[in-house]
Amino acid sequence: LRTSVGIVGAGPAGLLLAQLLHRAGVDAVVLEARNRDYVEHRQRAGLLEQGTVDVLRSAGAAARLDREGLVHEGIELRFDRRSHRVDFPSLADGRRVTVYAQTEIVKDLIALRLEAGAPLLFEAVAQEIVDIDTERPVIRYFHDDAERTLECDFVVACDGFHGIGRQTVPEDALTTYSREYPFAWLGILADVPPSCEELIYARHERGFALHSMRSEHVSRLYLQVAPDDRVENWPDERIWEELELRFAVRGDWKLHRGPITEKGITPMRGFVAEPMRHGRLFLAGDAAHIVPPTGAKGLNLAAADVTLLARALGDWYAHADEAGLDAYSERALRRVWRAQHFSNWMTTMLHPDPREDAFSARLHLAQLEYVAASVAGSTMLAENYTGLPME
Ligand code: FAD
Ligand code: DHB
Repeated sequence: LRTSVGIVGAGPAGLLLAQLLHRAGVDAVVLEARNRDYVEHRQRAGLLEQGTVDVLRSAGAAARLDREGLVHEGIELRFDRRSHRVDFPSLADGRRVTVYAQTEIVKDLIALRLEAGAPLLFEAVAQEIVDIDTERPVIRYFHDDAERTLECDFVVACDGFHGIGRQTVPEDALTTYSREYPFAWLGILADVPPSCEELIYARHERGFALHSMRSEHVSRLYLQVAPDDRVENWPDERIWEELELRFAVRGDWKLHRGPITEKGITPMRGFVAEPMRHGRLFLAGDAAHIVPPTGAKGLNLAAADVTLLARALGDWYAHADEAGLDAYSERALRRVWRAQHFSNWMTTMLHPDPREDAFSARLHLAQLEYVAASVAGSTMLAENYTGLPME
Protein backbone atom coordinates (compact mmCIF):
# COMPACT_ATOMS: atom_id res chain seq x y z
CA LEU A 1 0.00 0.00 0.00
CA ARG A 2 1.19 3.52 -0.75
CA THR A 3 -0.11 6.90 0.47
CA SER A 4 0.97 10.50 1.07
CA VAL A 5 0.48 10.63 4.84
CA GLY A 6 0.45 7.49 6.96
CA ILE A 7 -1.43 8.06 10.21
CA VAL A 8 -1.05 5.65 13.12
CA GLY A 9 -4.03 5.72 15.49
CA ALA A 10 -7.72 6.57 15.13
CA GLY A 11 -8.20 8.55 18.31
CA PRO A 12 -9.31 12.17 18.04
CA ALA A 13 -5.85 13.29 16.81
CA GLY A 14 -5.52 10.78 13.96
CA LEU A 15 -9.14 11.05 12.84
CA LEU A 16 -9.24 14.85 12.86
CA LEU A 17 -5.92 15.04 11.01
CA ALA A 18 -7.24 12.65 8.37
CA GLN A 19 -10.40 14.75 7.97
CA LEU A 20 -8.48 18.04 7.67
CA LEU A 21 -6.11 16.51 5.10
CA HIS A 22 -9.04 15.07 3.15
CA ARG A 23 -10.56 18.56 2.92
CA ALA A 24 -7.20 19.88 1.72
CA GLY A 25 -7.01 17.22 -1.00
CA VAL A 26 -4.14 15.29 0.62
CA ASP A 27 -4.59 11.54 0.76
CA ALA A 28 -3.89 9.55 3.89
CA VAL A 29 -4.32 6.07 5.34
CA VAL A 30 -5.30 5.65 8.99
CA LEU A 31 -4.23 2.47 10.80
CA GLU A 32 -6.00 1.67 14.09
CA ALA A 33 -5.04 -1.27 16.32
CA ARG A 34 -8.48 -1.72 17.93
CA ASN A 35 -11.89 -2.37 16.43
CA ARG A 36 -14.44 0.35 15.63
CA ASP A 37 -16.73 -0.43 18.53
CA TYR A 38 -13.86 -0.18 21.02
CA VAL A 39 -12.62 3.24 19.88
CA GLU A 40 -16.18 4.59 19.68
CA HIS A 41 -16.95 3.66 23.27
CA ARG A 42 -13.72 4.43 25.13
CA GLN A 43 -14.84 6.92 27.82
CA ARG A 44 -12.50 9.87 28.13
CA ALA A 45 -12.69 13.63 27.79
CA GLY A 46 -15.79 15.76 27.34
CA LEU A 47 -14.97 19.43 27.27
CA LEU A 48 -14.10 21.39 24.12
CA GLU A 49 -12.44 24.77 23.89
CA GLN A 50 -13.91 27.32 21.52
CA GLY A 51 -10.94 26.79 19.16
CA THR A 52 -11.52 23.03 19.03
CA VAL A 53 -15.17 23.57 18.13
CA ASP A 54 -14.11 26.04 15.43
CA VAL A 55 -11.66 23.53 13.93
CA LEU A 56 -14.27 20.76 13.92
CA ARG A 57 -16.65 23.15 12.16
CA SER A 58 -14.08 24.12 9.56
CA ALA A 59 -13.42 20.40 9.02
CA GLY A 60 -17.13 19.88 8.26
CA ALA A 61 -17.41 17.60 11.30
CA ALA A 62 -19.62 19.63 13.61
CA ALA A 63 -23.19 19.01 12.41
CA ARG A 64 -24.17 16.89 15.41
CA LEU A 65 -21.90 18.83 17.76
CA ASP A 66 -23.79 22.01 16.85
CA ARG A 67 -27.12 20.29 17.55
CA GLU A 68 -26.26 18.33 20.67
CA GLY A 69 -23.27 20.04 22.29
CA LEU A 70 -24.01 21.93 25.50
CA VAL A 71 -22.56 25.44 25.45
CA HIS A 72 -21.29 26.58 28.86
CA GLU A 73 -20.41 30.11 29.88
CA GLY A 74 -18.73 29.39 33.20
CA ILE A 75 -17.79 26.90 35.88
CA GLU A 76 -18.37 26.71 39.59
CA LEU A 77 -15.53 26.43 42.10
CA ARG A 78 -16.41 24.92 45.49
CA PHE A 79 -14.28 25.07 48.61
CA ASP A 80 -14.91 25.76 52.28
CA ARG A 81 -18.50 24.67 51.57
CA ARG A 82 -19.13 27.73 49.42
CA SER A 83 -19.69 28.16 45.67
CA HIS A 84 -18.07 30.72 43.42
CA ARG A 85 -18.86 31.14 39.74
CA VAL A 86 -16.22 32.02 37.14
CA ASP A 87 -17.85 33.67 34.12
CA PHE A 88 -16.05 33.05 30.83
CA PRO A 89 -17.39 35.47 28.20
CA SER A 90 -16.83 38.56 30.36
CA LEU A 91 -13.29 37.50 31.36
CA ALA A 92 -12.09 35.73 28.21
CA ASP A 93 -13.05 37.91 25.31
CA GLY A 94 -16.46 36.35 24.74
CA ARG A 95 -15.19 32.77 24.61
CA ARG A 96 -17.32 29.80 25.74
CA VAL A 97 -16.72 26.06 26.04
CA THR A 98 -18.82 23.13 24.78
CA VAL A 99 -19.58 19.86 26.51
CA TYR A 100 -19.52 17.12 23.87
CA ALA A 101 -17.97 13.74 24.56
CA GLN A 102 -14.78 12.49 22.92
CA THR A 103 -16.69 9.30 22.02
CA GLU A 104 -19.12 11.37 19.95
CA ILE A 105 -16.36 13.27 18.12
CA VAL A 106 -14.73 9.95 17.30
CA LYS A 107 -18.03 8.50 16.04
CA ASP A 108 -18.70 11.58 13.88
CA LEU A 109 -15.21 11.56 12.34
CA ILE A 110 -15.26 7.82 11.64
CA ALA A 111 -18.67 8.11 9.95
CA LEU A 112 -17.45 10.99 7.74
CA ARG A 113 -14.34 9.09 6.69
CA LEU A 114 -16.15 5.88 5.87
CA GLU A 115 -18.89 7.77 3.97
CA ALA A 116 -16.18 9.45 1.87
CA GLY A 117 -14.73 6.02 1.11
CA ALA A 118 -11.35 7.13 2.49
CA PRO A 119 -9.02 4.49 3.95
CA LEU A 120 -9.36 3.76 7.67
CA LEU A 121 -8.30 0.27 8.72
CA PHE A 122 -9.41 -1.15 12.07
CA GLU A 123 -7.55 -3.99 13.74
CA ALA A 124 -4.47 -2.85 11.85
CA VAL A 125 -1.60 -2.85 14.34
CA ALA A 126 1.48 -0.82 13.44
CA GLN A 127 4.54 -2.86 14.44
CA GLU A 128 7.37 -0.67 13.29
CA ILE A 129 8.06 2.59 11.46
CA VAL A 130 11.28 2.52 9.43
CA ASP A 131 13.31 4.83 7.19
CA ILE A 132 12.07 7.98 8.92
CA ASP A 133 15.35 9.70 7.98
CA THR A 134 14.58 9.19 4.28
CA GLU A 135 11.91 10.61 1.95
CA ARG A 136 10.08 7.26 1.93
CA PRO A 137 9.25 6.23 5.47
CA VAL A 138 7.43 2.92 5.77
CA ILE A 139 4.98 1.61 8.35
CA ARG A 140 5.02 -2.15 8.87
CA TYR A 141 1.70 -3.31 10.22
CA PHE A 142 -0.33 -6.43 10.86
CA HIS A 143 -3.82 -6.69 9.35
CA ASP A 144 -6.10 -9.55 8.23
CA ASP A 145 -3.65 -12.17 9.45
CA ALA A 146 -0.74 -10.84 7.45
CA GLU A 147 2.28 -8.54 7.76
CA ARG A 148 1.87 -5.57 5.43
CA THR A 149 3.68 -2.36 4.55
CA LEU A 150 2.46 1.17 4.00
CA GLU A 151 4.86 3.44 2.10
CA CYS A 152 4.42 7.14 2.80
CA ASP A 153 5.87 10.60 2.23
CA PHE A 154 5.26 11.40 5.91
CA VAL A 155 4.20 9.42 8.95
CA VAL A 156 2.21 10.99 11.78
CA ALA A 157 2.12 9.04 15.03
CA CYS A 158 -1.25 9.76 16.67
CA ASP A 159 -1.03 6.49 18.57
CA GLY A 160 -1.43 7.76 22.11
CA PHE A 161 0.85 7.56 25.12
CA HIS A 162 1.57 3.83 24.79
CA GLY A 163 2.01 3.82 21.02
CA ILE A 164 5.08 2.94 18.97
CA GLY A 165 5.60 6.33 17.30
CA ARG A 166 7.53 8.01 20.08
CA GLN A 167 9.61 4.85 20.63
CA THR A 168 10.66 4.98 16.98
CA VAL A 169 12.64 8.17 17.54
CA PRO A 170 16.27 7.40 18.49
CA GLU A 171 16.67 7.87 22.23
CA ASP A 172 19.40 10.47 21.96
CA ALA A 173 17.21 12.61 19.67
CA LEU A 174 14.40 12.96 22.21
CA THR A 175 14.21 14.77 25.54
CA THR A 176 11.37 13.75 27.84
CA TYR A 177 9.95 15.52 30.87
CA SER A 178 7.56 13.85 33.25
CA ARG A 179 5.77 14.26 36.53
CA GLU A 180 3.71 11.70 38.43
CA TYR A 181 0.97 13.12 40.64
CA PRO A 182 0.27 11.21 43.87
CA PHE A 183 -3.40 10.60 43.04
CA ALA A 184 -5.76 9.31 40.37
CA TRP A 185 -9.35 9.96 39.26
CA LEU A 186 -12.18 7.52 39.63
CA GLY A 187 -14.60 8.48 36.83
CA ILE A 188 -18.21 7.35 36.50
CA LEU A 189 -21.04 7.75 34.00
CA ALA A 190 -24.54 7.70 35.48
CA ASP A 191 -27.99 7.69 33.91
CA VAL A 192 -29.22 10.69 35.87
CA PRO A 193 -29.77 14.32 34.88
CA PRO A 194 -26.86 16.51 36.01
CA SER A 195 -27.37 18.12 39.43
CA CYS A 196 -25.95 21.39 38.12
CA GLU A 197 -26.10 23.56 35.00
CA GLU A 198 -22.36 24.18 34.86
CA LEU A 199 -19.39 22.00 35.82
CA ILE A 200 -18.40 22.00 39.49
CA TYR A 201 -14.74 21.73 40.53
CA ALA A 202 -14.63 21.06 44.28
CA ARG A 203 -11.71 21.04 46.70
CA HIS A 204 -12.52 19.24 49.94
CA GLU A 205 -10.33 17.88 52.78
CA ARG A 206 -11.36 14.37 51.67
CA GLY A 207 -10.21 15.04 48.11
CA PHE A 208 -11.13 16.71 44.84
CA ALA A 209 -14.44 16.04 43.06
CA LEU A 210 -15.70 17.12 39.63
CA HIS A 211 -19.28 17.18 38.42
CA SER A 212 -19.49 17.12 34.64
CA MET A 213 -22.10 15.80 32.22
CA ARG A 214 -22.64 14.21 28.85
CA SER A 215 -26.21 15.33 28.11
CA GLU A 216 -29.36 16.47 29.88
CA HIS A 217 -29.86 12.86 30.97
CA VAL A 218 -26.34 11.60 31.66
CA SER A 219 -23.93 12.79 34.36
CA ARG A 220 -20.15 12.34 34.40
CA LEU A 221 -18.49 12.59 37.81
CA TYR A 222 -14.95 12.17 39.11
CA LEU A 223 -13.40 11.58 42.54
CA GLN A 224 -9.77 11.95 43.53
CA VAL A 225 -8.52 8.55 44.76
CA ALA A 226 -5.12 7.04 45.59
CA PRO A 227 -3.09 6.03 42.51
CA ASP A 228 -3.15 2.36 43.57
CA ASP A 229 -6.88 2.31 44.35
CA ARG A 230 -9.13 -0.10 42.42
CA VAL A 231 -12.71 0.15 41.13
CA GLU A 232 -13.57 -3.00 43.12
CA ASN A 233 -13.13 -0.87 46.25
CA TRP A 234 -15.86 1.47 45.07
CA PRO A 235 -19.37 0.00 45.13
CA ASP A 236 -21.96 2.45 43.77
CA GLU A 237 -23.26 3.40 47.20
CA ARG A 238 -19.80 4.39 48.42
CA ILE A 239 -19.23 6.55 45.32
CA TRP A 240 -22.46 8.51 45.80
CA GLU A 241 -21.81 9.02 49.51
CA GLU A 242 -18.30 10.27 48.86
CA LEU A 243 -19.48 12.62 46.09
CA GLU A 244 -22.16 14.00 48.39
CA LEU A 245 -19.62 14.74 51.13
CA ARG A 246 -17.17 16.46 48.80
CA PHE A 247 -19.77 18.61 47.01
CA ALA A 248 -21.57 19.65 50.23
CA VAL A 249 -22.26 23.40 50.51
CA ARG A 250 -23.95 25.63 53.05
CA GLY A 251 -27.53 26.09 51.88
CA ASP A 252 -29.58 24.08 49.42
CA TRP A 253 -28.00 21.76 46.93
CA LYS A 254 -28.87 18.20 46.12
CA LEU A 255 -26.85 15.57 44.27
CA HIS A 256 -29.16 13.36 42.20
CA ARG A 257 -28.26 9.66 42.17
CA GLY A 258 -28.90 7.20 39.38
CA PRO A 259 -27.65 3.92 37.91
CA ILE A 260 -23.89 3.95 37.30
CA THR A 261 -23.17 2.57 33.83
CA GLU A 262 -19.37 2.83 33.74
CA LYS A 263 -16.46 3.12 36.20
CA GLY A 264 -12.76 3.58 35.62
CA ILE A 265 -9.59 4.82 37.32
CA THR A 266 -7.10 7.04 35.48
CA PRO A 267 -3.65 7.84 36.84
CA MET A 268 -2.52 11.47 36.65
CA ARG A 269 0.70 12.45 35.04
CA GLY A 270 2.34 15.20 33.07
CA PHE A 271 4.63 14.20 30.22
CA VAL A 272 6.25 15.97 27.26
CA ALA A 273 8.57 14.60 24.56
CA GLU A 274 10.65 17.11 22.59
CA PRO A 275 10.95 17.71 19.70
CA MET A 276 7.68 16.49 18.16
CA ARG A 277 9.37 15.62 14.88
CA HIS A 278 12.21 13.41 13.73
CA GLY A 279 12.91 13.44 9.99
CA ARG A 280 9.68 12.49 8.25
CA LEU A 281 7.99 11.28 11.46
CA PHE A 282 5.73 13.67 13.38
CA LEU A 283 4.21 13.10 16.83
CA ALA A 284 0.77 14.52 17.69
CA GLY A 285 -1.58 14.34 20.68
CA ASP A 286 -0.99 11.93 23.56
CA ALA A 287 1.86 10.29 21.61
CA ALA A 288 3.89 13.40 22.45
CA HIS A 289 2.35 14.74 25.67
CA ILE A 290 0.00 13.98 28.55
CA VAL A 291 -1.50 16.48 30.99
CA PRO A 292 -3.33 15.79 34.25
CA PRO A 293 -7.05 16.09 33.38
CA THR A 294 -8.02 18.88 35.80
CA GLY A 295 -7.77 21.61 33.14
CA ALA A 296 -9.56 19.51 30.47
CA LYS A 297 -6.69 20.09 28.05
CA GLY A 298 -5.72 16.62 26.69
CA LEU A 299 -8.18 16.38 23.83
CA ASN A 300 -7.92 20.10 23.04
CA LEU A 301 -4.13 19.88 22.73
CA ALA A 302 -4.47 16.93 20.38
CA ALA A 303 -6.80 19.00 18.19
CA ALA A 304 -4.41 21.98 18.24
CA ASP A 305 -1.43 19.79 17.21
CA VAL A 306 -3.17 18.32 14.19
CA THR A 307 -4.58 21.68 13.15
CA LEU A 308 -1.02 23.01 12.84
CA LEU A 309 0.15 19.85 11.15
CA ALA A 310 -2.68 19.69 8.62
CA ARG A 311 -1.98 23.27 7.59
CA ALA A 312 1.77 22.56 7.31
CA LEU A 313 1.26 19.39 5.26
CA GLY A 314 -1.28 21.22 3.08
CA ASP A 315 1.33 23.92 2.34
CA TRP A 316 3.94 21.30 1.54
CA TYR A 317 1.72 19.52 -0.97
CA ALA A 318 0.27 22.70 -2.49
CA HIS A 319 3.41 24.87 -2.78
CA ALA A 320 6.36 22.70 -1.69
CA ASP A 321 6.52 25.10 1.26
CA GLU A 322 8.39 23.47 4.18
CA ALA A 323 8.18 26.35 6.63
CA GLY A 324 5.12 25.03 8.47
CA LEU A 325 6.61 21.56 8.86
CA ASP A 326 9.86 23.03 10.15
CA ALA A 327 8.04 25.22 12.66
CA TYR A 328 5.55 22.55 13.80
CA SER A 329 7.36 21.20 16.84
CA GLU A 330 8.27 24.58 18.28
CA ARG A 331 4.79 26.03 17.77
CA ALA A 332 3.01 23.00 19.16
CA LEU A 333 5.31 22.82 22.19
CA ARG A 334 4.64 26.43 23.15
CA ARG A 335 0.96 25.58 23.52
CA VAL A 336 1.76 22.25 25.19
CA TRP A 337 3.83 23.89 27.93
CA ARG A 338 1.22 26.59 28.52
CA ALA A 339 -1.37 23.82 28.96
CA GLN A 340 1.04 21.81 31.10
CA HIS A 341 1.47 24.80 33.40
CA PHE A 342 -2.29 25.49 33.58
CA SER A 343 -3.12 21.82 34.22
CA ASN A 344 -0.52 21.65 36.97
CA TRP A 345 -1.83 24.87 38.52
CA MET A 346 -5.46 23.67 38.50
CA THR A 347 -4.43 20.23 39.76
CA THR A 348 -2.31 21.39 42.69
CA MET A 349 -4.79 24.11 43.64
CA LEU A 350 -7.77 21.73 43.71
CA HIS A 351 -6.34 18.43 45.03
CA PRO A 352 -5.24 17.97 48.62
CA ASP A 353 -1.88 16.22 48.27
CA PRO A 354 -1.30 13.43 50.81
CA ARG A 355 2.39 14.44 50.90
CA GLU A 356 1.78 18.13 51.50
CA ASP A 357 1.87 19.76 54.90
CA ALA A 358 -0.87 21.90 56.41
CA PHE A 359 0.97 25.05 55.38
CA SER A 360 0.79 24.10 51.67
CA ALA A 361 -2.86 23.18 51.98
CA ARG A 362 -3.56 26.68 53.36
CA LEU A 363 -1.62 28.23 50.50
CA HIS A 364 -3.73 26.37 47.95
CA LEU A 365 -6.89 27.57 49.66
CA ALA A 366 -5.56 31.13 49.64
CA GLN A 367 -4.89 30.75 45.92
CA LEU A 368 -8.46 29.50 45.34
CA GLU A 369 -9.87 32.43 47.29
CA TYR A 370 -7.86 34.83 45.20
CA VAL A 371 -9.08 33.21 41.96
CA ALA A 372 -12.68 33.40 43.19
CA ALA A 373 -12.49 36.96 44.45
CA SER A 374 -10.22 38.81 42.05
CA VAL A 375 -10.78 39.70 38.41
CA ALA A 376 -7.06 39.21 37.75
CA GLY A 377 -7.17 35.76 39.39
CA SER A 378 -10.32 34.54 37.64
CA THR A 379 -9.14 35.93 34.29
CA MET A 380 -6.09 33.66 34.47
CA LEU A 381 -8.42 30.70 34.90
CA ALA A 382 -10.98 31.78 32.29
CA GLU A 383 -8.59 32.56 29.46
CA ASN A 384 -6.63 29.33 29.86
CA TYR A 385 -9.68 27.12 30.42
CA THR A 386 -11.53 28.41 27.36
CA GLY A 387 -8.30 28.08 25.35
CA LEU A 388 -5.80 30.57 24.08
CA PRO A 389 -6.12 31.47 20.39
CA MET A 390 -4.43 29.13 17.90
CA GLU A 391 -1.18 30.47 16.49
P1 FAD B 1 -5.75 8.42 21.84
O1 FAD B 1 -7.13 8.84 22.04
O2 FAD B 1 -5.07 7.63 22.92
O3 FAD B 1 -5.70 7.57 20.48
C1 FAD B 1 -4.59 6.79 20.10
C2 FAD B 1 -5.08 5.68 19.20
O4 FAD B 1 -3.96 4.98 18.67
C3 FAD B 1 -5.91 4.64 19.94
O5 FAD B 1 -7.12 4.44 19.26
C4 FAD B 1 -5.04 3.40 19.94
O6 FAD B 1 -5.79 2.22 19.91
C5 FAD B 1 -4.23 3.61 18.67
N1 FAD B 1 -2.95 2.89 18.65
C6 FAD B 1 -2.03 2.79 19.65
N2 FAD B 1 -0.98 2.06 19.25
C7 FAD B 1 -1.23 1.69 17.96
C8 FAD B 1 -0.52 0.91 17.00
N3 FAD B 1 0.66 0.37 17.30
N4 FAD B 1 -1.07 0.73 15.79
C9 FAD B 1 -2.26 1.29 15.47
N5 FAD B 1 -2.97 2.04 16.35
C10 FAD B 1 -2.48 2.22 17.58
N6 FAD B 1 -8.64 14.44 28.77
C11 FAD B 1 -9.42 15.39 29.24
O7 FAD B 1 -9.29 16.53 28.81
N7 FAD B 1 -10.38 15.07 30.19
C12 FAD B 1 -10.56 13.79 30.67
O8 FAD B 1 -11.42 13.54 31.50
C13 FAD B 1 -9.74 12.79 30.18
N8 FAD B 1 -9.86 11.51 30.63
C14 FAD B 1 -9.01 10.56 30.14
C15 FAD B 1 -9.11 9.24 30.59
C16 FAD B 1 -8.22 8.24 30.13
C17 FAD B 1 -8.34 6.82 30.63
C18 FAD B 1 -7.20 8.61 29.20
C19 FAD B 1 -6.21 7.56 28.69
C20 FAD B 1 -7.14 9.92 28.75
C21 FAD B 1 -8.03 10.91 29.20
N9 FAD B 1 -7.96 12.23 28.74
C22 FAD B 1 -8.77 13.16 29.21
C23 FAD B 1 -7.04 12.65 27.71
C24 FAD B 1 -7.68 12.64 26.34
O9 FAD B 1 -8.66 11.66 26.25
C25 FAD B 1 -6.55 12.41 25.38
O10 FAD B 1 -5.71 13.54 25.45
C26 FAD B 1 -6.99 12.17 23.93
O11 FAD B 1 -7.62 10.93 23.81
C27 FAD B 1 -5.78 12.24 23.01
O12 FAD B 1 -6.14 11.80 21.72
P2 FAD B 1 -5.10 11.04 20.81
O13 FAD B 1 -5.81 10.82 19.54
O14 FAD B 1 -3.81 11.75 20.84
O15 FAD B 1 -4.80 9.67 21.55
C1 DHB C 1 -14.45 16.46 31.87
C2 DHB C 1 -13.17 16.05 32.16
C3 DHB C 1 -12.26 16.94 32.68
O1 DHB C 1 -11.01 16.56 32.94
C4 DHB C 1 -12.62 18.26 32.93
O2 DHB C 1 -11.72 19.09 33.47
C5 DHB C 1 -13.89 18.66 32.62
C6 DHB C 1 -14.80 17.77 32.09
C7 DHB C 1 -15.42 15.50 31.34
O3 DHB C 1 -15.05 14.33 31.14
O4 DHB C 1 -16.57 15.87 31.12
